[in-house]
This record gives sequence, structure tokens and C-alpha cells, in this order.
Amino acid sequence: MTKKPFYITTPIYYPSDKLHIGNTYSTVIADAIARYKRLAGYDVMFLTGTDEHGQKIQRKAEDKGVTPKEYVDEIVAGIQDLWKVMNISNDKFIRTTDDYHIAAVQKIFKKLYDQGDIYKGHYEGKYCTPCETFFTETQLVDGKCPDCGRDVEEAKEEAYFFKLSKYQDRLLKHIEENPGFIEPVSRQNEMINNFIKPGLEDLCVSRTTFNWGIPVTFDTDHVVYVWIDALSNYITALGYSSENEEMLEKFWPADVHIVGKDIIRFHTIIWPSLLMALDMPLPKKVYGHGWLLVDGGKMSKSKGNVVDPILLSEHFSVDAVRYYLLREVSFGSDGQYTSENFIKRTNSDLANDLGNLVSRTLQMIVKYFDGNISKGLIEDEFDEALKSFAEETVNNVDKFMDNLKVNDAVESVMKLVARANKYIDETAPWVLAKDEANSERLKGVLYNLTEAIRFISTLISPFLPDTAVKINSQFKFEENILTLDSIKVFGDIDFNLSIERGEVMFPRIDVEKKLEELDKIREEMLKAQGVEKREIIPIKEEITIDDFSKIDLRVVKVLECEKVKKADKLLKLTVELGGETRTIVSGIAKHYAPEDIIGKKVILVANLKPAKLRGIESHGMILAASTDDDSILEIPMINKDIPSGSQVR
Ligand code: MSP
Repeated sequence: MTKKPFYITTPIYYPSDKLHIGNTYSTVIADAIARYKRLAGYDVMFLTGTDEHGQKIQRKAEDKGVTPKEYVDEIVAGIQDLWKVMNISNDKFIRTTDDYHIAAVQKIFKKLYDQGDIYKGHYEGKYCTPCETFFTETQLVDGKCPDCGRDVEEAKEEAYFFKLSKYQDRLLKHIEENPGFIEPVSRQNEMINNFIKPGLEDLCVSRTTFNWGIPVTFDTDHVVYVWIDALSNYITALGYSSENEEMLEKFWPADVHIVGKDIIRFHTIIWPSLLMALDMPLPKKVYGHGWLLVDGGKMSKSKGNVVDPILLSEHFSVDAVRYYLLREVSFGSDGQYTSENFIKRTNSDLANDLGNLVSRTLQMIVKYFDGNISKGLIEDEFDEALKSFAEETVNNVDKFMDNLKVNDAVESVMKLVARANKYIDETAPWVLAKDEANSERLKGVLYNLTEAIRFISTLISPFLPDTAVKINSQFKFEENILTLDSIKVFGDIDFNLSIERGEVMFPRIDVEKKLEELDKIREEMLKAQGVEKREIIPIKEEITIDDFSKIDLRVVKVLECEKVKKADKLLKLTVELGGETRTIVSGIAKHYAPEDIIGKKVILVANLKPAKLRGIESHGMILAASTDDDSILEIPMINKDIPSGSQVR
């Protein structure tokens, strides 16, 4: 019998030198689904990869003094290693710098141009010259470049456009007629109401301001817009427009694209429109998952709250990390990472519940039957209850996985673990063991526990593959009794196993000690990123808002500035404060030349008692940030149109 194909993709990742536990989520969840489908007998194609073009990459490579390709090669190797560590079972890894992908994207662009879906026009927008980047009005921050904060100017450049507007009605119809196309539903409504219904504008799909991209074959000053390049990966990986389209025929349309909520718009508006233009069927589903947040916010290197999945796996286990991700982020919503919670889950669910069930069962089989287990006497309602619970769990997990409710599926398996632990308490094997006459019954109880563990190990294998392997090897379960088909009926197999007790799967964790270790991990990571943890000057005693309001901070404009003779640290400034002028002496001469601050607006402590410095009376103090040793100093400046004399609160 030929297996049914199932095609699942993750987003292709930007080459970032440090992926944190949050952004491994898209891949771990896709891996769990892919593994489950394999277990259910599907012929699975699971694709992941990297999205390597664009101006940012080009710039980073320039900063490092290497070519963009050299730059991405190193990082991509790191990402591939990470997926190995995390036990990701992808069938293919695509890089947008792969030749076949480049050739296919060029053909896509040309085809769309030839058929009139791409046309040449002008791109108008706000341009930041130093950054060589166009921004839309909404991307600007306070009217300035969102990257460097400098002024932007109106500019116009030649560019190619994709007729996105042409597909608006068809797209809306498709979404409305296929309720499962965008999931969860909340995201579907967001796309319809916030983006499609207000009207789609044609999309600028080429750039000329940098060249690290796929060249447009018929106009080589242009490179293809990164999202057109990136989204196409889902079909180029299957051989689209190559000599061999067998994989494409077999696996397209994709069963599901797994994407984070931040990029769902690209996948449900641009991607389907592009496919319509290519006359290709649309993916069956785009699933926009929630995010894993740290300390209530996004993880970022600059915040120092990045949690490194590799370090975490080394200190705990890969399965502990996978378990946390799969359990903590519920269908469609965000989850929270805290070290305390991570340790708690690992301890209670994995070490206590699952670990104990397995080790207690093994221990009893070794102790009472020398490691041999086969069917014994199965007779009472406890047996029946365990059997029906286990069989129901198989159905529940299947339903949840069909609806991509991975966290609910994991939870279901853990409920079966709890049920099996309860069965131990109900049947009290240690009591049965006291009387030889109960030997058959004791055997029956241990058989049932073994059977429950076989169900659990099979069901948990897509989520915790290492754990399943460990359980199976200790119980000597053969592969043929570890498929979804083989766990339809509980108690059907007459085991004749001879088991051994192996290592403890999830040792209990000393919470305090581990938390300390995690703190250390964080420090190590910050150090690796060049951020040393250092002692800061202790925060001063608390003050009230009234205390604070006694300090009168004002915006002042520097009119004149000169060096103070024979004092190499001091500058004498004349500042304007709401029409009046004042003299200020400031110890900033090592960091600012007079011409650097003349004309600038700075912040003054305006009601500070005057003090004489080198014979000059200073009427206030200018605010500056500096390192403890004063080797670096910066004066915060007011760039917006706030007049001198205005308050700073
Ligand atoms: N290159 C694009 C995708 C192109 S697909 C044609 C991209 N890459 S990414 O590296 O920035 O993100 C990869 C995935 O990680 C996205 O699905 C994103 O939503 C996900 N995540 C990044 N941080 C995350 C969390 N903190 N939590 C969960 N997922 C998050 O976008």
C-alpha cells in the first residue's frame, strides 16, 4: 500500500549567530508534527532551511570584512548543528543561496514578468542615505530612520512591482471558503479585516540599493525582494521548474506551513497571491503559532535575556527543552519562559511522573520476576479502567494532533502517565508480592504497566524522541510494536520480554542549585556576546515623586563654548534658557570639543546651587552618562523641536 504524502515546512531562518530557545519553537513544533505523521504511517516531507539574502546580511558581512557568502556559511553551519542537537528530523535543508533555488526564483520572476503580473514602475518612499534603505511612512520612528535615527528624505527609484491588488478578491474568497486555511481563526480575522478588506497595494519586488540577492535576469541592476525569494523556497525545494518535478507532484500543495505569528501576513497574503499567479494550488493550511516570551517580553540579545537552547540542553536534556517548548506554548497563544518554571516542569512531569513510572515498573519486574514479563492474571476494574484510559488517550492524541494542538496532545500523554501511576497505587504490587499465591496477579499488574508504558513511549516519541528510545531499549520493545497501529488495542500483545534496568532517564533536580547554574549559563552567554556581568554602583535610597520634583531639569541650548585655560577637563558653556543666558562649567572637555556641542540642546539641572570652578561661577550642571572610570562619556541631546526652557520630567 502506498503511503499518503504529508508535506510540512518551517519558516526558513535568518542566519543569526545565536538562535535562542524561542526561535527554535517553530522548528521543534514542526518536528513533533512531522514525527507524529510518520508514526501514523504517512510519507512525510519535512523541510527547513535558511533565508540568506538581503541588505542586513550584506552589511554585517562588510563589517566583518568577509563576503556575504562566507558570512552566512559559518552561521548556517551553526544552525544546522543546532537542529541536530535538538533532534530535528527534517528531510531536507534548503538554503536560499543554493544554485537550484536561485535558478528557480529567477524563472519565477521572469515568468511573472512575461505574463504581466510583474511590471516596472517607481518606488517612492522615505530614503535614509547612510543606511541606503527605503522606509514607508509608518516604519519611521519619530519621522526618522528606524535603524540609525538620522533624517530621511523623499526619494524615488525604479523598481518592479507584483500585481498583488489583482488577487485580492480571489484571495478573500479562498480564505472565506476554506475556514482551515489560516489557523488559529483569530489570525484569519486579523488578516481579512486589517489587511485584505482595506485593500491590497501592488508590492515592490525588486531592489537596486544593494546587491546581496538574486539578480533579476533581464535587468541585472535589480535583485529580487527577499520575501519573494524566501517564500518560493517551499516549492523550489521540491524541484519547481527544474528538470525533475517528481517531488513537487507528490508533495505539493503543502499540508501545513508552520510560521510564527509575526510572519503570518507574508504567508497568507503574498504567498497565496504569488501561487495564484503561478497557477499553482494553495497550501492547505498556514498555522501561525504564538511566541515563547522571556520575562514577559521578547527575547533579545541586547536585553541579555536570551536563553540558549544548546546550553540548556547540555545542563538538562534535549527532551527537557523540547518538552518545555511543546507544553508551554499553547495552541495559537504565547507562552512564558522562566527558569523556575522550566525546572519545575522538568522535575514534576518528567522526573517525578514519567521517570518514576518507568523506573518503578522496571524495578518491580526485575525484583519479582528476574526481569521477565509476560501476560498474567488480568481481572478487575482497575485493569479495565487503565485499558480504556490508554485507548482513549490514543484517540485524543490523534484528534489533537490533527488540529495541531500539540500542547494538548502532550498533556494527554502525561495524563496517561498519571493514570498509570495511580494504577500502581490501586493495585499495590508490593502487597501482592508478599504472598506466592498472588504471583499470577502480580504478573498481570506488571504486564499492564508494561503495556501502558508501551503506549506512552509510542505516543511520546514524536515529542521526546530520546526518552522513547531509552524506554524502548530498557524494555526491549521491538519497533513493530511501537506504531500507532499497534497501540489501538490495549492488552493485545503477549510480551515475552527479558528486561534490564538502565540509567535513570530524568534525575531529580536540586532546584536551588540548578537555578544558580542557570544564572551562570546566562553570565556565560553574556560573556560570549561580549557583555560582562559587572558590579554596578548600588542604587541610592528611594525617593518620592515630591523629592524628585525638587530637581528642576530644563532643556537649554548651547550658544557658546570654550576651553577653560589650564584645566584640561573643563569646558565653559554659555547656554540659553528661555531667553536668558547662563554660564556653566562642565567636566566634559576630554570627550567633546567646543564645536561638537555649540548649537545643540542638552539637559541642565537648573536649580543647582551655583559653585565656583577654576574661578568661574557655574549656574547649573549638564547631564551626561559615563562609565564608572569616566573613560566614555555621552551627553544626551534633544533632537526634536522642543524649545529651550522646557521641562524634563
Ligand atoms: N526568514 C524569515 C522567514 C521566511 S519564511 C519564507 C524569518 N526568520 S526568523 O529567523 O526571524 O524567524 C524564524 C521563526 O522563528 C519565525 O517563525 C518566528 O516567528 C520564530 N520566532 C522567533 N522568535 C520567537 C519566539 N520568541 N517564540 C516563538 N517563535 C519565535 O522570519
